[in-house]
Amino acid sequence: MVEISTSILSVKKGEESSTFFELEAGKTDYFHIDVMDGKFVEKNTYKKMLEYASYIKRISNLPLDVHLMVENVKEAINDFLSVEPNIITFHLEACKSKEEVFEIIKYIKIKENNCKVGISIKPDTKIEEIYEFLPYIHMCLVMTVEPGKGGQTLIKDTLKKIEELKRYIENNNIEIDIEADGGINLATAPDVKKAGANILVSGTAILMANDFKVIIDELKK
Ligand code: DX5
Ligand code: ZN
Repeated sequence: MVEISTSILSVKKGEESSTFFELEAGKTDYFHIDVMDGKFVEKNTYKKMLEYASYIKRISNLPLDVHLMVENVKEAINDFLSVEPNIITFHLEACKSKEEVFEIIKYIKIKENNCKVGISIKPDTKIEEIYEFLPYIHMCLVMTVEPGKGGQTLIKDTLKKIEELKRYIENNNIEIDIEADGGINLATAPDVKKAGANILVSGTAILMANDFKVIIDELKK
């Protein structure tokens, strides 16, 4: 059984509150908070996502799955730790050296020892580049689209990266979640699960459905 993390990036203006309540009732496992700084990716959702995350924190106990698509990772960690996320994921490509990656992993753990640590990689980043960090983190977020916006088509080649990662963690007895993010819907979910992801992020497919529970149940199967 996989878990579903619903991306709230494309929630309709003015319908935020009812959408968040309905997603909780529809049994999403996480709220996926897509933080974009207008530098690492073109769009800037920083302020909006901080507001949404703070609001969700007040009305729901569901865990927040914060996906930082930002250049200044430490600044964003400081800002988003305030909403007590279950996990904070930063991009490998936002770090200039492996020392910086280890420093950020430690920074999250020291600042908030209840918050898990995730690292995300873009479609063009080789899966091997993440291996040395796996023993120190809780989740690897494999982007199945280019980060930066919702509603894109899943890039099939990225499924091979999930398969390789799954094989690697099994061969090396590493306990870690594999989250897939981007273009996941009823048509693509089966291949993503078969590849080995155990947490699926979905935004457009869920938010466009008229019954969140039905589609979330379907995606989980
Ligand atoms: C893209 C985000 C994804 C995206 C998922 O940069 O990281 O979480 O919002 O949305 P869909 O499911 O519409 O691809
Ligand atoms: Zn995301």
